[in-house]
Amino acid sequence: MKNASHQPAKRDSFASSFGVLVAMAGSAVGLGNLWRFPYLVGENGGAAFILIYLGFVILAGLPVMLAEFIIGRRGQASARGAFQKLAPGTHWGIVGVLGVICCVFIISFYSVVGGWCTEYLFKSVCFDFTEGDPENLKTLFSSFSSSVWLPILCHTIFLALTAGVVVAGVQNGIEKFSKVMMPLLFLIIIGIAIRSMTLPGSGPGLKFLFQPDWSKVTSQTFLAALGQAFFSLSLGSCMVVTYGSYVKKDANIISLSSQTAVADTLFAIIAGCAIMPAVFAFGISPGEGPDLVFVTLPHIFSQMPLGGVIAIFFFVALLLAALTSSISMLEVVVAFCIEEFKMKRKAAVVVSFVFIWILGCLCSLSMGPLSNWKILGKTIFDLFDFISADFLMLIGGLLIVIFAGWKLGKAVVFDELTNGGTHPVPAWLLKTILFLIRFVAPAALLAIAIFQIHE
Ligand code: PHE
Repeated sequence: MKNASHQPAKRDSFASSFGVLVAMAGSAVGLGNLWRFPYLVGENGGAAFILIYLGFVILAGLPVMLAEFIIGRRGQASARGAFQKLAPGTHWGIVGVLGVICCVFIISFYSVVGGWCTEYLFKSVCFDFTEGDPENLKTLFSSFSSSVWLPILCHTIFLALTAGVVVAGVQNGIEKFSKVMMPLLFLIIIGIAIRSMTLPGSGPGLKFLFQPDWSKVTSQTFLAALGQAFFSLSLGSCMVVTYGSYVKKDANIISLSSQTAVADTLFAIIAGCAIMPAVFAFGISPGEGPDLVFVTLPHIFSQMPLGGVIAIFFFVALLLAALTSSISMLEVVVAFCIEEFKMKRKAAVVVSFVFIWILGCLCSLSMGPLSNWKILGKTIFDLFDFISADFLMLIGGLLIVIFAGWKLGKAVVFDELTNGGTHPVPAWLLKTILFLIRFVAPAALLAIAIFQIHE
C-alpha cells in the first residue's frame, strides 16, 4: 500500500525512492560539475583536492543535506513553511525565505548560461564548429554572449523548458523527467569520457586530474573545496528542504543522502575524465569559466575524429544537467508561492517565470550593454553569483544545521533518521551524525565565512 493516497490530498510527492534519488541527483549534477569541478581539481593539486573535497562532502555536505531532509520531511511544507511549522512563533522562517531568495538569484544567471548551452547545442547540430580556429571561436562566443537579443531569446527558451517541467508537478513533471534524463546523462558523459581517454596524448590530462600534488594545497584550496561541495550538492538553498517535504515517511534519508553525494561526486570525476584528457591531448591549457566549455571544447571537437557528433552529445549533456538543476531551483520558488500566497501551481509558475526572466535578462545584458553597471565592483551576473554561492548558501547551511541540531534537537533528529524507530540505524551512526550536525558542520561553515569576510 505504497501509493500517493497516503499523503495529504493536496500535497504532491515523489512516487518512488528511485524517483527521489534521480531528482536529487538531477539537482546536484549541473553546470557546477561539468566545468567548475574539473578546473578546480587541476588547479588545486589533483587528487589532493579530490580527497579534501570528499572530506568536506562527508563532514559538512552530508550533515547539511540530512538536516535539510529532516526539516523538510518533518515540516511537510516548502522552504519557509517547514521552519515555521516546526518552530511556530519564532523567526526561523527567515531561513526558508533566504533559501528562496538564493534560488531566485542562482536560477537568474544559471538560466542565462543554460541559454548559451541551448544555442551551442543548436550550433553543434549545424556543425558550426568545423572552422575550429580558437581565435574565431573566442570572437564567436564573446560577440554572441555580449549581444542583446539572441542570448535573451535562448534564456527565455531555457527558462520555458524548466517551467514546462515544473508546471506538470512533482510526480508527473520532475520525477518523470529526471527518471529518463539522468540515466541518459550518465551514459552520454561516460561515452565521452571513454572517447577522450583513448585519444593519443591523453595521459597528461589524467595526471593533471589525479596526481596528488600536496604542494599546491593552501588555505584557498580548503575554501574552494567547501564552496564547491556546497554549490554542487545544492545545499543551503532549501532545495533539499523542499524536495524532502515530498519524500515519504518510510524513505531512508541516510541512504538517499549518501547516494546523492556519491552520484554527484562520481559524475564530477567522470566529467573531469571527459574534459581534461582531450584538453591536454590537443596541447591546450585548461581555462576557467565559460571559455573552457564554449571556446576550448568547441575547438577540440573541431580537431577530433568524430568530434562533430561528440559535440552534439556534449551539449545535450550540458543542457540536461543544467535543466534538472534549474528545475529544482524553480520548484523551491514555486512551492513557496503556492503555500505562502495560496496560488495554483500554474499561476505560481507564471509569476516566478516572469520575475526570474526579468532578472535573467539583466544578467544577460550585463555581459554586453550593461557591463558598466557595477555594484560592489561586480557586474549584475557576477553579483548574483557572489550573493548566492559565496554568501547565502553558506549562511543558509549554517542556520540549517543549527536549527536541526539545536532547535529541533536530538530526539527529533533521531526520530527522522530512524523513521520513527521503524528503521534500525546503529547507535554509533546516529550519534556521529548528530555530532556532525551540531559541531563539525557549523565549525567548518563558520571558518569559511570568517575567511570570506577577511578577504
Ligand atoms: N548543484 C547545481 C550544480 O552543480 C547548482 C544548484 C545550486 C542547484 C543550488 C540547485 C540549488 O550546478
